[in-house]
Amino acid sequence: MKCIEVKTDPSYNVWIGSALTSQIGKLLYPIASGHRVAMITDMYVDPLYGEEVTAAIEDYGIEVQSFPIMVEEKTKNLSTVETLLRKLTQENYSKDDVILDVGGGMISDIAGMTAALFLSGIKVVHMPSTLLAMTDAAIGGKAELNLPEGKGIVGTVYQPELVVADIDMLATLPEHEIRSGMGEIMKYAVLEDSGLYNKLLNHPARTDLNDLENIIWQCAQIKAHIVEDDPAGFGNRGLVRLGHTAGQAIEAATDYSILHGEAVGLGMLVMAYGTGNRKTGDKIKALLEKYDLPTTIEWPDREIISAALFKGVEDRNYEGTYSIVVPEAIGHCVRKKVSARELTLILKKGLVAIKHGKNQSGKRHSLRSFRRARS
Ligand SMILES: NC(=O)c1ccc[n+]([C@@H]2O[C@H](COP(=O)([O-])OP(=O)(O)OC[C@H]3O[C@@H](n4cnc5c(N)ncnc54)[C@H](O)[C@@H]3O)[C@@H](O)[C@H]2O)c1
Repeated sequence: MKCIEVKTDPSYNVWIGSALTSQIGKLLYPIASGHRVAMITDMYVDPLYGEEVTAAIEDYGIEVQSFPIMVEEKTKNLSTVETLLRKLTQENYSKDDVILDVGGGMISDIAGMTAALFLSGIKVVHMPSTLLAMTDAAIGGKAELNLPEGKGIVGTVYQPELVVADIDMLATLPEHEIRSGMGEIMKYAVLEDSGLYNKLLNHPARTDLNDLENIIWQCAQIKAHIVEDDPAGFGNRGLVRLGHTAGQAIEAATDYSILHGEAVGLGMLVMAYGTGNRKTGDKIKALLEKYDLPTTIEWPDREIISAALFKGVEDRNYEGTYSIVVPEAIGHCVRKKVSARELTLILKKGLVAIKHGKNQSGKRHSLRSFRRARS
């Protein structure tokens, strides 16, 4: 078991390890003793872990009520949060009560926003159940919702009291969701730490849980440091958007038929090739291929570019430029401001490069073949 202290205001601990579900009552006790816990969870995760989490909390004499919800990008929105806020009100929750979310990044986004808004803010504890949420979404307090106009437009930064990542939950996570999480892990390998890049490259592609514990811990540390330096996201925290300019455009253009981590991986590749960093692009591609993530996409370029320009609100600056993160080398990424025309050219060049790329075996990875493999 490992613990990282995220030194934001307030600071909090991130626990990462095995069998932590049985410890959740003990870990919650100092925060929730004498109060109620509203467990906001994914309706698919609830039957897997809801009972065990509830029993471990009730063991410490704390009342728990479960609020399972159906989540997808199209419903990661204000309407879902409003429904939850109304339910909490109808069930007489009060300012001292605690929201515990159990699920992936969508659940931590929805529950984080609900906690920030209910009675002007109540305590929230994240229990991430996906690789992506353990390494990224559950750390740093960002809670983001979508609008029909684009992804992640409604957001806040609201730090949790505690994060508890039980890696045993990954045993039930479908293989494609593990791969999606690897996409986000690769972002950290490219962003900060060339040691992590080499470790992933030389590692057997099928990682066991013990390996994952170390990898999650490394990524969580990198994210924690970035967040400590810039909790509100006006400066260097922007670096965690590596792969997101093109990635989110791909998600939006394809109507979210690609997983977030897959999109981030493709987004890094597009940005590396599009900005002329071919060697770095080749290195990113080698990692994506190794973990069987898509390295090309069969989708009209113009739709992806249009989504980046018109739906990429998070990257847009007041003077009409866009902020992008350029992977110049592994472990060296820089933020740049570009005009709409420059962004268009970068994306065009990057998308053309990945469409004409081949992997080592000569087989093209594509969104289409990836979807077939999944179904
Ligand atoms: N706010 C942030 O800082 C931040 C950072 C990164 C990503 N995100 C957001 O996170 C979302 C992606 O998160 P995600 O990849 O965790 O997806 P997710 O929350 O949609 O979960 C993926 C799928 O896995 C299932 N699942 C979850 N845990 C499981 C388990 N242990 N066993 C079996 N099935 C399980 C879920 O039911 C779901 O179908 C995106 O919406 C993205 O925008 C937010």
